[in-house]
Amino acid sequence: MTHPTTGVLIVAAGKGLRAASGGIEMPKQYQMIGDATVLERSIRCFVDREDVRSVTVVIHPDHDALYRALDIQHPKLTSPVTGGDERSDSVRLGLEALSGEPPELVLIHDAARPFVSQSVIDQVISAAQATGAAIPCLPVVDTLKAVNGDGTLSSTVDRSKLRAAQTPQGFKFEAILDAHQKAVHSGLAFTDDAAVAEWQGVAVAEVVGEKGNLKLTTAEDLKAAQPPSPPPIVRVGQGYDVHAFADDRPLFLGGVEIPHTRGLAGHSDADVLLHAITDALLGTLANGDIGSHFPPSDAAWKDAVSDQFLVHACALSAEDGGVIQHVDATIICEAPKIGPHRDTIREKIADIMDLNLRSVSVKATTSERLGFTGRREGIAAMATVTVEYPRA
Ligand code: CTP
Ligand code: MG
Repeated sequence: MTHPTTGVLIVAAGKGLRAASGGIEMPKQYQMIGDATVLERSIRCFVDREDVRSVTVVIHPDHDALYRALDIQHPKLTSPVTGGDERSDSVRLGLEALSGEPPELVLIHDAARPFVSQSVIDQVISAAQATGAAIPCLPVVDTLKAVNGDGTLSSTVDRSKLRAAQTPQGFKFEAILDAHQKAVHSGLAFTDDAAVAEWQGVAVAEVVGEKGNLKLTTAEDLKAAQPPSPPPIVRVGQGYDVHAFADDRPLFLGGVEIPHTRGLAGHSDADVLLHAITDALLGTLANGDIGSHFPPSDAAWKDAVSDQFLVHACALSAEDGGVIQHVDATIICEAPKIGPHRDTIREKIADIMDLNLRSVSVKATTSERLGFTGRREGIAAMATVTVEYPRA
């Protein structure tokens, strides 16, 4: 590689007004995209290139502290230059700052285009070296209309001769500095640097730009540019509970009072199904069990409605960012028959857990008269709860 002859000017002195979605906001070039700010990403596109001699950032006079906070250390990154009211002022001030040790070629890039590829930069540099001036362009894909200004269209414009201009725009340094200085003396403001060069009669070559090299302009653009969040972790918890039958007690299953000759014995309302679901949910948090959160020794829970245990477990899960996906439960008893009450129970559980009915499954089985449930000594319940948690 020969001696690098290209200087890069990154203009970051705008206020980012169109990206501010109301209220006082961080200017767009200092907002984060994933783990780095827009401006830092733009700088990183250039500093490590062997053909780049230096990178100079033009910043807004009010953004000094913001820029310093980026704390980017790189031998090729020079001190920032203060910009002006219009983009063209910022570019000119940046070029003038470089003029002490002028590079042969200068690339002028919008800080707001942090996704420029190395291949676009390669092409701009080689075309600008060969021809004196080159910019990346994209063909216009939409049909273009001229308007009358009264809500009607006047004509269709031939788009084959039109291009959308991107940056970096590459120029022989002396020519673009001269053009910008002449423009400001003539009181003219242009929206890009190729326009300034064209005005001075400099032929500007086009190289093929990239759709990905978009300019972040609106808050929507910044949002869409964020990397997708990593997929959540799925945790499955299981719960199991048993309560013995007891006379003179109401029978609660899944928060619903079920008409039956007997209820279940227990300190609380003995809702064996809600207890199994609560334990399953606590299982997804690896955070103890229903007994450790609501000790039977505590008088506060005597005859307590078990809904509140489940509500508490749901709140703990939500605190950890949990999104409950599904509940699947099985009631094991010879009697009462669960079928007639199944949907009422499902609705009640969905209501307590704030879930869609389709996410709550309640099944029932007998144990073929075997064991304690078969002997009608009590009811057992099992539950599985599936929860998505954000990756830490
Ligand atoms: N820019 C600049 N100096 C200005 C205006 C703009 O250096 N006086 C820079 C911006 O920081 C940006 C690039 O020029 O990197 C393109 O400008 P634009 O996307 O219009 O950004 P802003 O002017 O900041 O945004 P807005 O027009 O929405 O206020
Ligand atoms: Mg602007």
